[in-house]
Amino acid sequence: MNTWEKAWQENRTGWDKGEPVPALIDYLTQHTPDATQGQTPRALVPGCGSGYDAFALAQHGYTTTGLDIAPTAAERFDRCRAHHGVSPDKAHIVTDDFFSFTPDAPFDLIWDYTFLCAIQPSQRELWGQTMTRLLHPNGTLLVLVFPIFESDNPSPTTDEDKGPPYRMHLEHVRHILEPHMVLTHSEEPSRQHPDRKGLELLTAWKHRNA
Ligand SMILES: C[S@@+](CC[C@H](N)C(=O)[O-])C[C@H]1O[C@@H](n2cnc3c(N)ncnc32)[C@H](O)[C@@H]1O
Repeated sequence: MNTWEKAWQENRTGWDKGEPVPALIDYLTQHTPDATQGQTPRALVPGCGSGYDAFALAQHGYTTTGLDIAPTAAERFDRCRAHHGVSPDKAHIVTDDFFSFTPDAPFDLIWDYTFLCAIQPSQRELWGQTMTRLLHPNGTLLVLVFPIFESDNPSPTTDEDKGPPYRMHLEHVRHILEPHMVLTHSEEPSRQHPDRKGLELLTAWKHRNA
């Protein structure tokens, strides 16, 4: 059994805050969705877990796909979706491996929170290539980098480090994404969960050739 599925089955889901992350709510309040060719914008949440962030995106006008490798997460997503009053045509979950996920069309917005820090550090370059493949040419990739560690000269994180969550740094994300994308914005969110304060950095990325 996949280790993530095992964690879900054993209720070892300490990352689950039971609500959408405040930084996403603030972003969605301040930014109107970009629709491509007049169609309803499409959002993807890889490693969505219970799906609170996916429901927030749906409630702000995105047709949202949650993606999680664990079937038990999908069961939980569907229960939470009903509880949040979001219809399945606005937010649905796909049980699949992010790295091989092949949707019908790329996404206008991709939201990563607590997914990049969950995968093995040796998978990070493939994460960047996969994000590039899944993002529409005019789309926006939002990465809420977490958990940030401070260092003037951050050494790369390796599979031998303690994790998940594996430590993160903006320089790590730059190294992974800058061959494909440009950083258009970064800021420390003004609202953060008390036990994550100072550990989050909101970053926005566009395709390099957009
Ligand atoms: C740390 S949890 C975060 C869940 C959610 N983002 C949250 O903040 O509550 C990471 C999630 O990623 C999922 N996951 C891990 N590897 C994956 C993969 N390769 N493809 C899709 N989902 C994956 C796990 O099952 C888990 O639900």
